Amino acid sequence: MIRPILKLGDPKLREPAHEVPRAQVASEKIRTLIDDLIDTMRDACGAGIAATQIGEPHRVCVIEVGENPRYPYKPKIPLTVLINPRLTPLTEETFANYEGCLSVPNLRGVVNRFVGVRLEALDGNGMEIDRELWGLSAGTFQHELDHLDGLLFTDRVVDPASFTTWENFDLHHKAAFVQRVEALVSRFGA
Ligand code: NI
Repeated sequence: MIRPILKLGDPKLREPAHEVPRAQVASEKIRTLIDDLIDTMRDACGAGIAATQIGEPHRVCVIEVGENPRYPYKPKIPLTVLINPRLTPLTEETFANYEGCLSVPNLRGVVNRFVGVRLEALDGNGMEIDRELWGLSAGTFQHELDHLDGLLFTDRVVDPASFTTWENFDLHHKAAFVQRVEALVSRFGA
């Protein structure tokens, strides 16, 4: 079911989400939550969405990048369901990512993200995930996990002068950003 997406200023976006107890991973409640997240993400053309964004305080998020009109330069990521995810940086190196968010309408800004992270989580079937993520895709996961801690990309924008509407991103910032993205993707393959 497509759910309403909470927008910037809603206090629920700022509440850190709770771990899903192991015994509830396969529960009806969590299964329905995952289905709703997938429906809502796809309906809104998001690259990912976290449970906090639909007002559910559980550490669950979904990520998927196919042909995405919001982010045509993003490398593809198959549908990924994460329960109780944890990220550990694998490097001190960061890259400047121009981010947007379904909860922050018509705004983008530059955020520094680690170029490599280790991801540990459970998938939608309760199976352990333990893998490395690199490049732009690593940034996408860092953005979604931030939501579970009540953080928005706006909190991490270092230079507020980088804030831009989507229209002005396309007009003034996209070309340079896509060049940086291509360099990153060719280096890390993602
Ligand atoms: Ni977001």
